[in-house]
Amino acid sequence: MVTKPGHVFDRDWEWEGLTEFAAHHGRGPSGPRATLGVVSGRRRQGKSYLLQALAQTTGGLYFGAQEATEAVALRNLESALARHSGTAVDPPFRDWGDAIAYLFRSHRDRPVPVVLDEFPFLARVSPEISSIIQRELGPGGSGEGSGVRLILCGSAMSVMGRLLAGQAPLRGRAGLELVVKPFGFRDAATFWDIADPRLAVLVHSVVGGTPAYRYEFTAGDPPEDLAGFDEWVLRTALNSRSALFREARYLLAEEPDIREPALYHSVLAAIAAGRTTSTAIATFIGRKADHIKHPLNVLEDCALVTRQLDLFRPTRAYYRVVEPLITFYEAIMQRNWTALEARDAPAVWQAERHTFQAKVLGPHFESLCRDFAREASVSVFGGLATEVGAGVVNDPERRTQIEIDVAILGVQDPDGPRRVLSLGEAKWGERMGVDHVRRLGRARDLLGAKGYDVRDARLACYSGVGFDDGLREAAAEDDRIVLIDLDRLYQAPTA
Ligand SMILES: Nc1ncnc2c1ncn2[C@@H]1O[C@H](COP(=O)(O)OP(=O)(O)OP(=O)(O)O)[C@@H](O)[C@H]1O
Ligand SMILES: [Mg+2]
Repeated sequence: MVTKPGHVFDRDWEWEGLTEFAAHHGRGPSGPRATLGVVSGRRRQGKSYLLQALAQTTGGLYFGAQEATEAVALRNLESALARHSGTAVDPPFRDWGDAIAYLFRSHRDRPVPVVLDEFPFLARVSPEISSIIQRELGPGGSGEGSGVRLILCGSAMSVMGRLLAGQAPLRGRAGLELVVKPFGFRDAATFWDIADPRLAVLVHSVVGGTPAYRYEFTAGDPPEDLAGFDEWVLRTALNSRSALFREARYLLAEEPDIREPALYHSVLAAIAAGRTTSTAIATFIGRKADHIKHPLNVLEDCALVTRQLDLFRPTRAYYRVVEPLITFYEAIMQRNWTALEARDAPAVWQAERHTFQAKVLGPHFESLCRDFAREASVSVFGGLATEVGAGVVNDPERRTQIEIDVAILGVQDPDGPRRVLSLGEAKWGERMGVDHVRRLGRARDLLGAKGYDVRDARLACYSGVGFDDGLREAAAEDDRIVLIDLDRLYQAPTA
């Protein structure tokens, strides 16, 4: 395997997939042939960075398309090809049929990756390009005998998704489909050079795991320590001269399927305010529930929002904002925009401290705990997690509901009852005690009575502050009580 360049942080799994794809000989019924890969992922996650590294280390061609007319795009590709091979393209391309055939024919002897980055720009002005690629990859096309590993890359998730979906010409053609995602929360802490887990959660609640936000958007400038966090927020996200300041707006503005940003911002603001069901979102923004179906679907397709079923009431779903910066923007910045632009950031930050704790950090901590649960080793919860999510358990006797922040379901017999591995509660700012475990125990008993298999269910407390002595003692005596503090959250899972 080609060694990953040292400047590419993390991404070992992605690198392995890309280099294997790039080196692999495509085989058709009549010998070698060109193959197709598709790389997608939201903006600024490092797709181009990875693909440029791939092209450099393998001698491949990287072409980053611009928003341009077809004639200009073809001319730019000719220049890129000439730089790559040292010979001018002659005669010039008349259309994409010429260009794709030329690409395929010019690399015959060995596998070579050819990257067309920002492919949605090309497809927008030349919609026939996908069918041309399909034709040339097919029987009798110029892809026969070619070593080209064609990689189409783009960040307009909706466009990239459609490329391979349903009746699309390229459906079923791609030998590689890679989605480049943000770094996981532990990798993000390493990427930001932050060793203190408390500070790591704070920073992650603002910039998440998007690689570009470190060097290009904040000049590589993490807070020095916990005490420096407020200053850091003021000089980055809340600083009207910083690139991060307008980023949340750009993320929406750049999505081709989002045509009415005001509506979409309102939907995101509702979720950021804790209105996570579609009824609650609709009420918050003053529309009927069926009016927000479409925007929610689009936001989901753009990978800005996820929809997760309530694990105990599967007819209900919760929406969550995927990108922390958007939550931060909608919860803190959007309604203070004028003041922030007028450079009143310190006053805004002072006034919004409570909102930050309640609407940003609290829910963010819960989602980190679910991430932890997804990858926790079998030893922590006594089994393999098959589903992790939140859920609500009804307590009809006490006329109340118990919210479970981190519910983990395990492997079960096909016809057997659903097996609960763990019920957990997450508290960012509260020292937890035995009362929390009692509540979880009540939820466990209620689920047991409803037919869930709760025999081995472990009750988990996740706290940003810690646990009182009573709870520590209880956990020491009962291995079905699990305590997760910040140090444990940030420990890499052992096998
Ligand atoms: N694995 C990585 N290691 C170190 N830095 C990275 C890595 N990935 C991304 N970066 C940083 O993030 C920046 C943005 O990445 P890049 O431009 O590749 O994102 P992208 O996914 O192509 O975004 P877009 O969709 O906007 O084109 C890079 O220029 C680099 O500074
Ligand atoms: Mg890019």
